[in-house]
Amino acid sequence: MIPDHVRNRRSGSSQNRQMRNVRVVVSDAAATIRRLSWRTKCFLLATLCLSMYIYGSLIVSLTRNHLVDDAFLQTDKCPACYGHSLCWAFKDNQIKLKGWSQVRLLDFVNIKNVHFAEHSEHGQTMVLKKLAHDKELDEIDEKLCQDALRPVGCDIARVLMRTNTGDEIRRLGLLPKHLKGTASMFSCPTYNLIDKVMESYKEKLKPDNPEVMTRDKLQLYVTAITNPEPLMLQTFPSSDGWPFPEYYGACGRFIAVSYEGEPLYNYYNAPWPKRVNLMKKPLWNQLHENRFDECDGKNCLTFSTEDLCSRMESDLNYYAVCRNLLSKYANDADLGMPSGLLHDMPNFAVDDWDLEHLLNECVHPTATEGRLKAKERIIHALENLRNVEDSRDAAHRIS
Ligand SMILES: Nc1ncnc2c1ncn2[C@@H]1O[C@H](COP(=O)(O)OP(=O)(O)OP(=O)(O)O)[C@@H](O)[C@H]1O
Ligand SMILES: [Mg+2]
Repeated sequence: MIPDHVRNRRSGSSQNRQMRNVRVVVSDAAATIRRLSWRTKCFLLATLCLSMYIYGSLIVSLTRNHLVDDAFLQTDKCPACYGHSLCWAFKDNQIKLKGWSQVRLLDFVNIKNVHFAEHSEHGQTMVLKKLAHDKELDEIDEKLCQDALRPVGCDIARVLMRTNTGDEIRRLGLLPKHLKGTASMFSCPTYNLIDKVMESYKEKLKPDNPEVMTRDKLQLYVTAITNPEPLMLQTFPSSDGWPFPEYYGACGRFIAVSYEGEPLYNYYNAPWPKRVNLMKKPLWNQLHENRFDECDGKNCLTFSTEDLCSRMESDLNYYAVCRNLLSKYANDADLGMPSGLLHDMPNFAVDDWDLEHLLNECVHPTATEGRLKAKERIIHALENLRNVEDSRDAAHRIS
């Protein structure tokens, strides 16, 4: 056994040796750096600073939740924004950016401003979108400042009400002329369309209050001129069967929608059977046949949007015409048209052309694809009956 004093002496000498080695390495490195030219020294220093900046930013990005940051969400722009219904969930750390979306340094390549996030409780993936490039958003701000006769860079939130359009919206309400041409959704705006958009608008300041405030109208106007996508998603919600992503809400200049899978270009190099199968739903090529609905003897049109959107062909429009316009089942009380447009048809229409029976068959067919078959025969019958009536009119005029 080695005595303690000998063992200590040995470990002390090995420590001294290590220290000497470190000193030699450091002085060698210092001498090498001293020998470098000034240009190389500057380059090394710049590279060092840049790496520290990149690593620092990465660490900050990955450890911080940017969705609690008002500057990132641009909530200070509101009501020149998309809304605020999700702000509480963002502030409550319920939603967090994920993957590359966490890294702010990469925002300059993310020109479409689309980020991916996750709900921490439900685990569902969502897509956060600014709906425009930064440059486009700047241009909109600029336009609003000009409309308010303010210099570029004005405080949009404060001056929005003072823009010419904003002032008119405050005084007269949101009118079709304010939205006309702002987006394809508003190519032909009507009061009805505005009412429908307002009705489904989730971003009202007081969502439970039916009253729409001026602030809500201004916010809706700015959304329309920026990108009508959130208005489309709210007016035609996926819960009603529309084939769009689900709208979760908005905060500042971000909206959140459901993640709908990878883009099609990701499948470009996928095997042929995979590509040919994409989008294909069961029964997609089987005719969608709508069922007759009695509706207490009144006009009505009931159908499943889910079936309608998943099939290639549907007989809905023929059903609607036969059910609510032509046949005896049509009963438009408002227009005072009981028994349909073709009521009291002459005997030759009933007997020679079987028109009454065909219309009934079109309303509730007794055979598979019966409505389409009946439709063909109805068109043929009407074509001939129309010619008979035309020749009768002509004969009447001559006599
Ligand atoms: N709900 C979503 N689910 C999955 N990916 C999405 C979703 N929304 C957008 N993306 C992805 O982000 C990209 C950009 O979306 P964005 O809606 O900004 O533009 P776009 O759909 O390409 O064109 P448009 O301006 O006509 O909407 C899409 O191409 C798609 O890859
Ligand atoms: Mg899109």
